[in-house]
Amino acid sequence: MRRCDELGCISEEKWRLTRTFASLAMREANALVGSWMREAGLAVREDAAFNLIGRQVSKRRGAKTVLIGSHLDTVRNAGKYDGPLGVLLGVALAARLRDVALPFHLEVVGFSDEEGVRYQTTYLGSRAMLGLLTKKDVQTIEEKGIEKARRPRREFLAYLEAHIEQGPVLEAQNQPLAVVTAIAGQTRISVEFTGQAGHAGTTPMRLRRDALCGAAELILAAEKIGVIATVGQCEVAPGASNVIPGLVSLTLDVRDGSDARRKAACAKLKRTALRIAKRRGLRLHDWCIVQETPSIRMDPAMTRVLHRAVGRGVPALPSGAGHDAAVMARACPAAMLFVRCKGGVSHHPDESVQTSDVARALDALTKVILELADRHD
Ligand code: GLV
Ligand code: MN
Ligand code: MN
Repeated sequence: MRRCDELGCISEEKWRLTRTFASLAMREANALVGSWMREAGLAVREDAAFNLIGRQVSKRRGAKTVLIGSHLDTVRNAGKYDGPLGVLLGVALAARLRDVALPFHLEVVGFSDEEGVRYQTTYLGSRAMLGLLTKKDVQTIEEKGIEKARRPRREFLAYLEAHIEQGPVLEAQNQPLAVVTAIAGQTRISVEFTGQAGHAGTTPMRLRRDALCGAAELILAAEKIGVIATVGQCEVAPGASNVIPGLVSLTLDVRDGSDARRKAACAKLKRTALRIAKRRGLRLHDWCIVQETPSIRMDPAMTRVLHRAVGRGVPALPSGAGHDAAVMARACPAAMLFVRCKGGVSHHPDESVQTSDVARALDALTKVILELADRHD
């Protein structure tokens, strides 16, 4: 908990916590977490995609690797637990198990980009590790060579991630922990409407082609589309109180447990945007799917191990938020543990967790690793 506080002070902005992919703040965070990893007896390195990796080597011949981790990047004006809690739980776990001879290598990973704030495209760190970057990713990303972080998937035995719930269900049910059943799929779209900028005092209302009024209609349509949909970023140009907006760029984030429902919602929103543009004399200048990740079920066998470790009465919840586990599940069995957070608040500086819940999570993770060790002995 003290480490979460300390890490929460490492930011690229003075008055709030923001730590994006490959920023100076991330380099500093990696150095600090790396020092804690070394204290826990781990051999530390940073890969070509800025993922921080601490490794406890098994003496077993041909041993595979169990990874435990989460991410060290944050949203803008973030809380201090979304991501770091899972990484630091991994470090604490490694410290506990430092003298235990495991039949697999144990790696604690701090992934470099779960939020996608810097390039709008998420999971750069975990996707680079699995060789899942697209050509477009590699072209867009200023930092060259991140694809060199790729590792053979056969190395990986299992992936385990603990994360704050980021929602209010556990608090409402008076439960400290939950196992995660699945991670919702998500589509991120960039949208641009162009109209005609003009004088706000002289242009009659009926002769305007106001890009922001069109965008506003689309935002309200997204609110009613029937799946989880958010417009979190909206830029108005030229951006003056006495100028009619001539250009609006916005982001659309659409999620659902069902990929078909999510895709249908996106298609419907595009048709709506085209209709709005036509009626208002605007141009839908851009409708670009920046990122699309399918919904992923956590591995049933690994999840059963986790469920036994936390106690059978513990709830099982789907995750509406994205996690690196959604990517790692493509390479090996993956399971996730949720920790209750205060008021369900996340992506906000008020994020808060109870020390006693975190202690329970650490005990559960320890049991899972020991159970996996038994099974592979
Ligand atoms: C990450 O927090 C996401 O789900 O957007
Ligand atoms: Mn987040
Ligand atoms: Mn997160």
